[in-house]
Amino acid sequence: MSNEYSIRSANIKPFMAMDVLARANQLETQGRDVIHLEVGQPDFATPAPVIAAGKQALDLNCTGYSNADGIYQLRQAISDYYASDYKLDIDPDRIFVTAGGSGALCLLAALLTDVGQGWILTDPGYPSNRNFVTAFSGDPQLVSVTAETQFQLSAEIVARNWRANTKVVLIASPSNPTGTRIGPEELEAIYQVIDNRGGYLVSDEIYQGLEYGPNTRSSALGIADDVFVVNSFSKYFGMTGWRLGWLVAPPKARETLMKMAQNLFICPSVPAQYAALAAFSRESRLEIEANRQKLARRKEFMLTALRQLGFRVHGNPEGAFYLYAELPEAFTDAAHYCSSLLESSYVALTPGDDFGGEQQKRFVRISYTQDYARLAEAIDRIQKFNS
Ligand SMILES: Cc1ncc(COP(=O)(O)O)c(C=O)c1O
Repeated sequence: MSNEYSIRSANIKPFMAMDVLARANQLETQGRDVIHLEVGQPDFATPAPVIAAGKQALDLNCTGYSNADGIYQLRQAISDYYASDYKLDIDPDRIFVTAGGSGALCLLAALLTDVGQGWILTDPGYPSNRNFVTAFSGDPQLVSVTAETQFQLSAEIVARNWRANTKVVLIASPSNPTGTRIGPEELEAIYQVIDNRGGYLVSDEIYQGLEYGPNTRSSALGIADDVFVVNSFSKYFGMTGWRLGWLVAPPKARETLMKMAQNLFICPSVPAQYAALAAFSRESRLEIEANRQKLARRKEFMLTALRQLGFRVHGNPEGAFYLYAELPEAFTDAAHYCSSLLESSYVALTPGDDFGGEQQKRFVRISYTQDYARLAEAIDRIQKFNS
């Protein structure tokens, strides 16, 4: 039987986290007090100066199209941010402002993928990335990673899994769903393996800044000029719904990317771009830093509490706002566990099934994006449910 629509669209899998969210919202409309630990966004408001700048942009009628790569002031501000926070000199012409990190990933999938070409991606990993590759008729090559390498790729793993059709390796640090990071030396070694084989490194750095361990400030942009880096205003800057991110590309990719950005998107949201200029102000940065410190404290609380309940959190989660936990012995199926917990105790978690293959079915992703009191209440409900 032929598909009504394209085969590539049929091959794209739904996002379970969104199904959990939909059911949780439905329970809420029925008057239930649901604790949302399933969503991948901070619970903090967008910094006040950003909101004020967004309102001003509307009052000043900054509502037309911009250049496909964004307004120059914002590209310059992002370049300044790399200089001040990462000691990196990035030409604004290498920066493309996009519709979230997702817009950047879409552009990269289009730029780097011919039919059947492979991207090495981690299992577990953020599901949309493999679906972007599928959408452009590429071959997502999921490679299983464990706590032994902090759920990250290593140079050895990349070399061992490289195939004749492999062209791109995507790493994400800090990672969704595990919150773990990749060390700068390992990343450089991975780059060497890829470079020797004529491939490309794509580094998804959208949780950059939301890091809690030592030596936090690093970017793959420090390795070489020919890596592709994806970033976003969504998470660290607290702007998920504004739909703004960016891509840093090698200078020689500029012309082709411009052509594609013009055709695929015309430009990113213009009021959002003017608002985002204020994200780098001192006031915004202070607000963001206070939020980061709150997340760091919540992470410690949740890690200890979950381990006391028999969840096994492997590896060293040092970033983003996720813990990826293996269920206590008594439970085997994460999808079933999450659904029962939600229906009976009104705590929403995301089953590991979203993030990879069979081995993820014993894991749940927990977002610590609720205040301390709600997290404590969630732990209490989980304890009662488990016993
Ligand atoms: C690893 C990773 N990359 C990219 C994205 C895309 O986010 P956005 O388009 O909001 O920047 C997400 C969102 O959760 C993510 O977790």
